[in-house]
Amino acid sequence: MLLLLIGVIIKISRACAVDIANCPYEETVNLSNYASQENGSIFYQNIEITKAWQGYYDYEQYFNGVNVNVAMHLRGCVCKFKKCVKLCCQRSELINGNGQCITNIGANSSHSSDFIMITQTNGEFKKVDIFNHFIWQMGRPCNRVAQFHSTAQSNWSLLENGTLKIRRTEQSMYYTTRDYCLSQVYDDHGNEYTYEPFSCVILNPSWDVFIKKYGKQNRIINETMFVLIKSIFTRFLAMLISIIFFIPTVLIYLSFKELHGNLGGKLLISYLISLTMSYSVICYINFTTGAISAPACLILGYAGYFFVRAAFFWLSILSFDIWRNVKENLQTGIKSHNKLYWLYSLLVWGVALLCTMLTALAEWSKIDSCWKPGIGTKHCWLDVSKWSASIYFYIPNMIIFLFNVIIFFNIISKINHLNRNLTAFCTKRLVQAVMLHT
Ligand SMILES: *[C@@H]1O[C@H](CO)[C@@H](O)[C@H](O)[C@H]1NC(C)=O
Ligand SMILES: *[C@@H]1O[C@H](CO)[C@@H](O)[C@H](O)[C@H]1NC(C)=O
Ligand SMILES: *[C@@H]1O[C@H](CO)[C@@H](O)[C@H](O)[C@H]1NC(C)=O
Ligand SMILES: *[C@@H]1O[C@H](CO)[C@@H](O)[C@H](O)[C@H]1NC(C)=O
Ligand SMILES: *[C@@H]1O[C@H](CO)[C@@H](O)[C@H](O)[C@H]1NC(C)=O
Ligand SMILES: *[C@@H]1O[C@H](CO)[C@@H](O)[C@H](O)[C@H]1NC(C)=O
Repeated sequence: MLLLLIGVIIKISRACAVDIANCPYEETVNLSNYASQENGSIFYQNIEITKAWQGYYDYEQYFNGVNVNVAMHLRGCVCKFKKCVKLCCQRSELINGNGQCITNIGANSSHSSDFIMITQTNGEFKKVDIFNHFIWQMGRPCNRVAQFHSTAQSNWSLLENGTLKIRRTEQSMYYTTRDYCLSQVYDDHGNEYTYEPFSCVILNPSWDVFIKKYGKQNRIINETMFVLIKSIFTRFLAMLISIIFFIPTVLIYLSFKELHGNLGGKLLISYLISLTMSYSVICYINFTTGAISAPACLILGYAGYFFVRAAFFWLSILSFDIWRNVKENLQTGIKSHNKLYWLYSLLVWGVALLCTMLTALAEWSKIDSCWKPGIGTKHCWLDVSKWSASIYFYIPNMIIFLFNVIIFFNIISKINHLNRNLTAFCTKRLVQAVMLHT
């Protein structure tokens, strides 16, 4: 409870992260260390980035579009103004055989050249100075990068706009600066340092030279894949296990009249059904990322939200009903179960629908995009890492949770009270009985 509260406070106190409009991630650079001018502009390698082209990001994007959450930091869309290439290391460094950045001892020698051959749009080649023709970003597409060696089957060329083209006999592939980086390497034959591309060996069919070199599959399934699998399993295995247990429980309840005949049983079934539905939808969304069409994504997202809300409300109704039972017990008779059940159903589904509609309204309204739930836009489900999720997810859940806690303590005190009355009543009867028989 306290943790939840702290989490929400932390999320709220953080600035609102918004991606820069019309700017893909790979066109941005980290501007944390750059001083801002009086008018808000920041200069990156002599390119002016105005306020409109700056934004706060709480993630970094790597090879194949894998996002990794990091501390909030300022980024600027510099590659909109001049095309970028990416270096694996600092300009004065190069990458060694172990993938570490080390000082490039040949950097200022006559054997070193900042020139690289680019392929122009018209297909012609041109030798350009990297640092004049391009803006350079720094970073790697993944931790373990490997150099790409041209072969008869596949070779690389750097396009005018900084995209790396892998020309293969079957099909060419294009890598943006998100997916490759350049580093100088020493070429024995020419006795010179030249810039060569590096990228990730994993999940990458065109890096076939490396797949052959490293051979064993288990060494290739690494990093990106590993991160992906880990996140899927840690986050959704628990849900899957729950579904596996819920479905039989619901079925058992449904098949025995003794179990679902009374109101409590019905409420429990309704709760379990909502929970199973919500878990199923969320699992489905998360296990089939990328393959869901936009309308399906939208429908699934809101259906998931609806059932999550419903599950939480059913849980509240469940505890409310227990409280009502304890309170009315022994006083009034049992009211018509069916009538009450329909009333509860109407309440729960109605309020869940209302919440869903309000969330959808927020999505389609004109508010700042960082306040929006984001269902069906970038993700099918709420982006729970975004702080706006607290409005639509954590805060409502917390309110319901609080309600349940209050009811719970109420029930406990009622039962205590009842017990005391009962004890007193029994003692009196016992005394009477004893008196009668003496
Ligand atoms: C951005 O740059 C700053 C300063 O160099 C660094 O401390 C920070 O870790 C960087 N953030 C990311 C996400 O790369
Ligand atoms: C912002 O200020 C810098 C230097 O102070 C100047 O070079 C630049 O043109 C200004 N940009 C705008 C949009 O006014
Ligand atoms: C190359 O020259 C730059 C300045 O021109 C200097 O900062 C750098 O340390 C030199 N690198 C080496 C390896 O000598
Ligand atoms: C390799 O590049 C050359 C041009 O440099 C091109 O003519 C050749 O077709 C390329 N090979 C493959 C397999 O694409
Ligand atoms: C660069 O050019 C290639 C080929 O014309 C194109 O496929 C790619 O989308 C371009 N990339 C950018 C960032 O403009
Ligand atoms: C990637 O593979 C290397 C050995 O090839 C291993 O040491 C490293 O831990 C692996 N990384 C991950 C994230 O599995």
